[in-house]
Amino acid sequence: MLDVLVLISGSGSNLRALVEACADPEYPARIVAVGSDTEAPGFAHAAERGIPTFIVEPRAFDSRDAWGDELRAQIDAWTPDLVVCAGFMRILPAGVVRAFTPNIINLHPALLPLFPGAHAVRDALAAGVTQTGSTVHIVDEGVDTGPVIRQVTIAVEPGDDEATLHEKIKHIERPLLVDTVGAIARADINLKELVAS
Ligand code: GRF
Repeated sequence: MLDVLVLISGSGSNLRALVEACADPEYPARIVAVGSDTEAPGFAHAAERGIPTFIVEPRAFDSRDAWGDELRAQIDAWTPDLVVCAGFMRILPAGVVRAFTPNIINLHPALLPLFPGAHAVRDALAAGVTQTGSTVHIVDEGVDTGPVIRQVTIAVEPGDDEATLHEKIKHIERPLLVDTVGAIARADINLKELVAS
């Protein structure tokens, strides 16, 4: 059984998909805790299943590194096998990344290396691409630069705006996340090998 810790900042629809997958006894992972940088609405999905939550707010610390040290300590306390950033809207300090990589992955709403950063859906629309999608990748010290694990593509349709396109992307990235975490748990995906290649 793979012990997973999920980091979120917002609505947590991807967390919810993972929580639901973990309710299936055949699924090879379980969520040990959910952390956030804020009082995230998505905590409700954890609470429904009695999954513990924690908040480490940057504003409570004098520096980014001090915030990162506490975040790392809170994560470490759960000794997860894998950390999943699913809509965690902060760039992790290098100390946190180094502590967990390659066992820390992120879900990004674009086909990396295209459109990294916080406005991926808006940037894809502005660029006029006809296809976009979602990427699961290993977190490294850059912004959305780590090795790609898996991607799913969808068409951008006429009339799509940022909100509708992001909703369509979320629709495909939930199963992408569930399948990827399942594959890591079954050792069908080897994160160390991906970093080395
Ligand atoms: C997702 O689109 C994810 O790719 C991005 O943030 C969004 C989180 O959505 N990093 P939700 O909070 O899981 O609904």
